[in-house]
Amino acid sequence: MVSSKPVALVLLAAGQGSRMNSNLPKVLHQIGAAPLAVHALRAASTLEPEKSVVVTGHGAEMVETTLSKHDDELIFVRQTEQNGTAHAVDQARAALDGFTGDVVVLYGDTPFVSGETLQSMVDARETADVVVLGFNAKDPGRYGRLITNGTSLDAIVEAKDATPEQLAVTLCNSGVVMCAAQTMFELIADVKNENASEEYYLTDIIGLARARDLTAVAVTCDEAETLGINTRRELAAAEAAFQARKRTEALEDGVSLASPESTFFAYDTVLGRDAVIGPNVVFGPDVTVESGAEIKAFSHLEGCHVSQGAVVGPFARLRPGAELEEGAKVGNFVEIKNATLAEGAKVNHLSYVGDAHVGAGANVGAGTITCNYDGVFKHRTVIGAGAFIGSNTLLVAPVEVGAEAMTGSGTVVTEDVPDGDLALSRVRQTNKTGLARKLMQMLRAKKMKKDA
Ligand code: UD1
Ligand code: CA
Repeated sequence: MVSSKPVALVLLAAGQGSRMNSNLPKVLHQIGAAPLAVHALRAASTLEPEKSVVVTGHGAEMVETTLSKHDDELIFVRQTEQNGTAHAVDQARAALDGFTGDVVVLYGDTPFVSGETLQSMVDARETADVVVLGFNAKDPGRYGRLITNGTSLDAIVEAKDATPEQLAVTLCNSGVVMCAAQTMFELIADVKNENASEEYYLTDIIGLARARDLTAVAVTCDEAETLGINTRRELAAAEAAFQARKRTEALEDGVSLASPESTFFAYDTVLGRDAVIGPNVVFGPDVTVESGAEIKAFSHLEGCHVSQGAVVGPFARLRPGAELEEGAKVGNFVEIKNATLAEGAKVNHLSYVGDAHVGAGANVGAGTITCNYDGVFKHRTVIGAGAFIGSNTLLVAPVEVGAEAMTGSGTVVTEDVPDGDLALSRVRQTNKTGLARKLMQMLRAKKMKKDA
């Protein structure tokens, strides 16, 4: 669902996150192989924002570089001093000049807010000028408290500035807030920093809005959605919660997980119905496993596509650009990178296939290596349909093996092999009669002499 009004996102990502004890800016720490801020951006993307402004500060360059890889239309504005959440949002003022829709503010360190929850805020905006996302906190601690009067939200009071009576309130502020852009920037202009932290609090806009007779309401969500990450421990706990949710979703979607607790998902993993996943399988970003494909134990996949009926592993590694067409097989201790295995192609044992196309039904023998890298450039290997690559073949790319061609075991292929030909490049074998026994006797005698 999309709101009737256009929406602009302001994502706050300027904080240092000193409690992470890290050189990496907090919002770039990862859950499910994606930075925290990317999770927030993905949630916001369900509202199809017309503009997305990210407020950066600590580690700004790194944050901007990383996030623009995920979305090249992000607008970055810098907050050089972190003077509070209202001051942070104010940095987006110029970027949103003339924008007449709604603004939604999200935090870059709060990864789990769902699209549905944001949609419910959009719905609440139909009847209220300002909408805040709240939650009932088990331990309200340092959260801002939502002070309500019936259905009206009258103010948000920061814990540091609250009276004992206000501190007893368990309805807390998640930090997510939505209102018309014009309202937002008008109210922010009036925010003062006369409080315990001497910061410009975004939360003050509620009281300011009410003083102007604007209406404000709180929409609530589950506390798990508003979980913010401040420490490594919280990050690890959030990762565990994320994995638990992904496992449940996969099982509900009809995926077989032999050992759910040992399957690790990325934020964007797609597993088809009746896909079969063995124990200890790790999915990096950008993996699709089609319906009915099987990934056996201890395999590691990223940036790849596994079609129906394909079988991978055990102990296989699929790297970015691996494309397995229907019924293709990748066996144990095989690495595939930037390579297509066409229908029914097999690479069953101990091989590296990189920058290659393996034709339909081709069989790549044990220990085959595509020598794709000369130290500077990467080169391509093409193996024709129905070709048979003998064990321990080295394919020195760029090179092409034709359809239904063969290579003998141990062949070093440096020149193209025409369709249907057999390539052999090994020294002819000779047997020296009785020489093995003689050699052994000689060596043993030598050892006895030495030990004596
Ligand atoms: C804020 C809310 C509080 C709420 C809580 C939820 C305010 C004043 N308080 O408190 O009501 O319960 O979040 O977690 O808004 N940031 C900037 N620039 C700044 C300040 C903050 O980018 O100058 C970013 C931070 O990096 C962070 C987010 O804004 O991602 C929230 O700031 P933080 O200082 O953590 O606010 P809290 O004190 O937790
Ligand atoms: Ca916080």
